[in-house]
Amino acid sequence: MSQQSIRVENLVKNFGEGDSRVDVIDGASFSVDKGELIALIAPSGAGKTTLLMMIGCVQEPTSGQIWLGDEKVYDNKWLSKDTRTIRREKIGFIFQAHYLIPFLNVIDNITLLPQANGQTKEEAEKFAMELLEYLDIADKAHAMSSQLSGGQNQRVAIARALANKPKIILADEPTAALDTERSVSVVQMLKKIAIEQDVAIIMVTHDNAMLPLCDRILKIEDKKVVSSKVMKDTSMI
Ligand SMILES: Nc1ncnc2c1ncn2[C@@H]1O[C@H](COP(=O)(O)OP(=O)(O)OP(=O)(O)O)[C@@H](O)[C@H]1O
Ligand SMILES: [Mg+2]
Repeated sequence: MSQQSIRVENLVKNFGEGDSRVDVIDGASFSVDKGELIALIAPSGAGKTTLLMMIGCVQEPTSGQIWLGDEKVYDNKWLSKDTRTIRREKIGFIFQAHYLIPFLNVIDNITLLPQANGQTKEEAEKFAMELLEYLDIADKAHAMSSQLSGGQNQRVAIARALANKPKIILADEPTAALDTERSVSVVQMLKKIAIEQDVAIIMVTHDNAMLPLCDRILKIEDKKVVSSKVMKDTSMI
C-alpha cells in the first residue's frame, strides 16, 4: 500500500474550442500523501476549483492520469463508467458556502447521504453523533442549520463531508466566510482529521494566515502545479 492518496500525472484541462479555447491546466503533476493537509493557492481564475473538481471526479479532464488511493480512476478517460460511485466512496467535499439544507436539522443534514448510500437511519445517526462530538458541536445536533453561526455551520459541513469516511477531502475555500479565529479553528480541525484518520486533504485558500497550519503548499503557476514548504509559525498552532 502506497502512502500516496492522490496522484496526478500530466493533467491537462482546457475549456472551449478554436478561438474561444481557454487552457487552464497544462501538464500538472503532483501527489498528496495520506495524513497531509495541503493548501492549494493561486490567483482568482487560475484553475483551483477546476483542479479540485477533476480530482473529485466531478469535471472530466482533457487528458492525463489520476489515481485516488490505489485505484487509477482516469487515464485520458474515466476508467469507470460510474464516477458518482467513486466520488461517494472516496471523497468528501467542503465548499465555501456550507450548502446545508436549511429546513433540515443538523443530524438530518449529515445522515442524508449515508442513508442514500444504504446505511440504516440508526447506523447513520450513531456515526453522525460521534462526528458531532469529535467536532465539539454535539449540542447542536437537533438545531436547524439556519439557527447556527457561520463557524458552527462549517463544522457541520465538515461532519457531513466525513460521514462516508472518505480517505480524501477536497475543500474549496472552507474558511472564506469566517473570521480569522474561526478559520484557524476549522483548519486545525482539518489537520486533526488528516492525522488521526489518515485522510489526505487539499484545501483551497486565499488566506495567508492559514498557510502555517498546513503541511505543504501547492501553487498553480504557469498552468502547472508546484509544491513548496510552509514556513511554520509555531505561535499560531
Ligand atoms: N465550465 C466552464 N467553461 C468555460 N470556462 C470555465 C469553466 N469553468 C471554469 N472556466 C474557466 O477556467 C478558469 C479557472 O476557473 P476556476 O473556477 O477553476 O478558477 P479558481 O482558481 O477556482 O478561481 P477563484 O479563486 O476565483 O475561485 C477561469 O478562467 C474560468 O473562467
Ligand atoms: Mg474557485
